[in-house]
Amino acid sequence: MALDYRELIPNNVDLGDNRALQRALEHWQPHFLDWWKEMGPAVFAGADVYLRTATAVDEKGWASYGMVKMPEYRWGIFLADPVPDRRIGFGDAFGESVWQQVPGEHRSALRRLIVTQGDTEPASVEQQRQLGDTCPSLYDLRNLFQVNVEEGRHLWAMVYLLHGYFGRDGREEAEELLARHSGDPDKPRILGTFNEPITDWLSFFMFTYFTDRDGRFQLKSLAESAFDPLSRTCRFMLTEEAFHMFVGASGITRVVRRTLEVMKALASEDPAAVRNSGAIDLPTLQRYINFWFSSSLDLFGAEISSNAASYFASGLKGRPDEARFADHSATGQSLRIEVPDGKGGATGEDVPMRSAMNEVTRAAYVRDCDVGVQRWNRLIAEAGYDFRFRLPSTRFRRSIGVWGKGSTDPDGHPVTGGEWQAKQRDWLPSTEDRAFVNNLMRRVTEPGKVAGWIAPPEIGINNAPLDYEYVRLN
Ligand SMILES: [Fe+2]
Ligand SMILES: [Fe+2]
Repeated sequence: MALDYRELIPNNVDLGDNRALQRALEHWQPHFLDWWKEMGPAVFAGADVYLRTATAVDEKGWASYGMVKMPEYRWGIFLADPVPDRRIGFGDAFGESVWQQVPGEHRSALRRLIVTQGDTEPASVEQQRQLGDTCPSLYDLRNLFQVNVEEGRHLWAMVYLLHGYFGRDGREEAEELLARHSGDPDKPRILGTFNEPITDWLSFFMFTYFTDRDGRFQLKSLAESAFDPLSRTCRFMLTEEAFHMFVGASGITRVVRRTLEVMKALASEDPAAVRNSGAIDLPTLQRYINFWFSSSLDLFGAEISSNAASYFASGLKGRPDEARFADHSATGQSLRIEVPDGKGGATGEDVPMRSAMNEVTRAAYVRDCDVGVQRWNRLIAEAGYDFRFRLPSTRFRRSIGVWGKGSTDPDGHPVTGGEWQAKQRDWLPSTEDRAFVNNLMRRVTEPGKVAGWIAPPEIGINNAPLDYEYVRLN
């Protein structure tokens, strides 16, 4: 299905047939644009950027690349095509027809899920707003802006659902999505990770690798929803999200490549020597992995959750790739979860499967995160070094769930407050690490040139050459 860009708000939901909804969204649109100008990219905001714009909602729908000024990007409302006769795929109503409207009894829970998802989209744009200032290349600058405009579109996707299906309180929630701001002491974003500042590009690549990947798993779970408009919205968002994870995975890979080149040239693994040559040593990369991975784990919620159980029972939120599970009711099953034994160790507790849904999703996420880690380790092994990255334990640095109280080391062994204080700088980026990384961040905007701390990309965007002028700074 081709997308129609002739309307003020491009859409494939026949917005023109619903005058009240169209007017409500046309009223929200200037508020969004004001927010974009105030909280969106702070540097090069008016540049011509080589952006992709969706032309269809299927896998091949990314035909259109061209120079666009970001404030003129055609944000719109695009839902994946409906699946004929789609049925609820899990929970108590398994096999019944999906819902085209919100059932009254699930209204507040669904609104909460949509608002929580929606809040993360503008939050990440706010977190990244200063990064253009220190871009390592025009290629990277363009990718940052592509991610930013698409997160803006994801906000539109959630606002469409709020306006279209939740009446007046939906409209109020849509305004609030523009009123909360990342890191704002009075009105912060809902979830912790989305209030973390992102002042350097290493953190940006870690965020797109670990935190956008959380987004992927949340969207996969919501794509299973019995509320069909939410499912269709999330299915199309997933096609956009794939690029965000590419930015993270390829970005970290390029940093590792550059570090290995420098280690080879120096014939030394000494972190100080690597730093003196302007690259980021492997132990520092490990500490950034520890930070962003552990922060993103909390986004899945507590290991044992009655909310997760009721979302699953009522069909609001399923498991990622629900079709791959043999039993879609998940009753009469349990999952063994490790909990602190109160004596400095861990013990297993059998939790009813429905109450453990957050843990099921988190486990799938952890496996997915590890794929990139193993790829980076192969690069290190091929270069002839023994160093290996690893994901820390899922108990490490948690602030919610069964491991949310007290601290553990990266292996998941409980440590005292004193040990935590003493060892923290071995486990997490220290003030000095952050200062060093921030110091490396110098703007490079000559076409084809790349900053010294990161290797060039392997191929350009949409088959354009590496020295293509991906952003015309004007
Ligand atoms: Fe998103
Ligand atoms: Fe994303």
